[in-house]
Amino acid sequence: MISTELEPLARTGGLGDVVEALSLSLAELGLDVLVVTPRYGVTRLPLHTTRWAERVPARWGWGPDDVRSLGVVELDPVRFGSGGVRRVCVLDDAELFGGRSGIYGDRLGAYDDNALRFAVMSRGALSVAERVWPGGPDVIHAHDWHASFAVIYARLVMGERWARIPSVFTVHNLEFQGVLDEVWLDRLHLPRAAYRPEVLWHEGAINLLKGATALADRVTTVSPTYAREILGAEAGFGLDLHLRAHAGKLVGIQNGIDLARWDPQTDGAIAARFDERTAKARRPIDKRALEEELGLEPGEGPLFGLVARLTWQKGLDLLLPLVPELVNRGARFALVGEGERSFEDELTWLAGTHPGRVAARIAFDPALSRRVYAGSDFFLVPSRFEPCGLTQMYAMRYGAVPIVTDVGGLHDTVEPIVGGRSTETGTGIVASRVAPDAIHAACLAAMRLHSDGRGLERAVTRAMRRAGAFGWQESAARYRELYEHVCGARLARHATRGA
Ligand code: GLC
Repeated sequence: MISTELEPLARTGGLGDVVEALSLSLAELGLDVLVVTPRYGVTRLPLHTTRWAERVPARWGWGPDDVRSLGVVELDPVRFGSGGVRRVCVLDDAELFGGRSGIYGDRLGAYDDNALRFAVMSRGALSVAERVWPGGPDVIHAHDWHASFAVIYARLVMGERWARIPSVFTVHNLEFQGVLDEVWLDRLHLPRAAYRPEVLWHEGAINLLKGATALADRVTTVSPTYAREILGAEAGFGLDLHLRAHAGKLVGIQNGIDLARWDPQTDGAIAARFDERTAKARRPIDKRALEEELGLEPGEGPLFGLVARLTWQKGLDLLLPLVPELVNRGARFALVGEGERSFEDELTWLAGTHPGRVAARIAFDPALSRRVYAGSDFFLVPSRFEPCGLTQMYAMRYGAVPIVTDVGGLHDTVEPIVGGRSTETGTGIVASRVAPDAIHAACLAAMRLHSDGRGLERAVTRAMRRAGAFGWQESAARYRELYEHVCGARLARHATRGA
């Protein structure tokens, strides 16, 4: 598996969580899984690691000097009773990764050599895989456009043996496609013959995601609804036609969450631990602690939480203008995230103009996030599109009732509570459209539910109960089936050896 992010080493969003949990679950099922990821300046390595004696080569261009040799730091493997093992190898290169303050960019924007950086990551990852398994891996699983080079190089550049190794490519977010000027073809070892509309060419530029989705044996995305949505113009980000041509190999597999790491019964980051039965008595303690931490006035009114990367995708511009009016009606807000400057400024402005009622923390703060899940009555996810979304699942696990738009993985994970009335079904409040008035109506429905105390209690119980079924087991089994399908008997042999 090749990924730019891996929890807890380095991540900016859900990708890191997913690759960590999925790789472990697959190993638990008996597979040998190797994850390769870069070591950035921000990467937090665990105490025990082993540095490989030999460096591995990563060739990224056609020229004689277009090759780097990368250091490899290996984490302690995780072994399971099934015989499966999960290994993690971290690629060391001070210039491309270690010396950077961010993963994709810094305050000045995205790094302008990202394509080169991630080409080196991908190529280096294949070299690592070859050292681990002398015949090469059974399957290459690449995540998002950054790792698309692995699929493209293996299929087109590295010779017969690699070309025969099947690959799975997962789209976590179609908005980011890795679009490059044509001059990068030669610089990045991309064959000119593939620079055509069926593979790498898209609207006059190189499109790496298009190339990988064209060449991979299977393309997956992270929820069934998103897999359907991206075949249409609205969510297709210009690639819908191309993806429709490959619809036969596209599958949506719902992300899970790591139920052991996200458990309000054992979470050391929250003030009061609880489960379904004790939530009623204990969550108010978490709410009070969160209010205090964030400088919010204590009160009986509903507390709305939000934790997000502050980007266009997340629909903040649809939600934030509604905040003053909702505050007038008695709502309070705990807003946490970092991202685009204009959204950060608006959060800060809202907090400044509504002291005690709106709190904003401009930060990527995993521990605080957990306290928001545990202490909020409602959790807002007003996304324009959402390939899967993990925060609504974490929120449900911690008893915060989600308020979501009806898109992608949000549609697949939140069952609507109709009209905010205390019905006996539903795990969250679903806005009918991606629009401010619909999100406003959903927030009002939440406030009605809140004033009907028993109704809210029952919704909390249903949300928590539902979240208990968001584990990875089933989805990991589906990935395994997919791998077995693309590589036939070979993988099955590994798996039974493990079992
Ligand atoms: C991306 C998507 C998000 C998804 C995550 C993990 O961050 O935007 O919806 O949950 O990847 O797959």
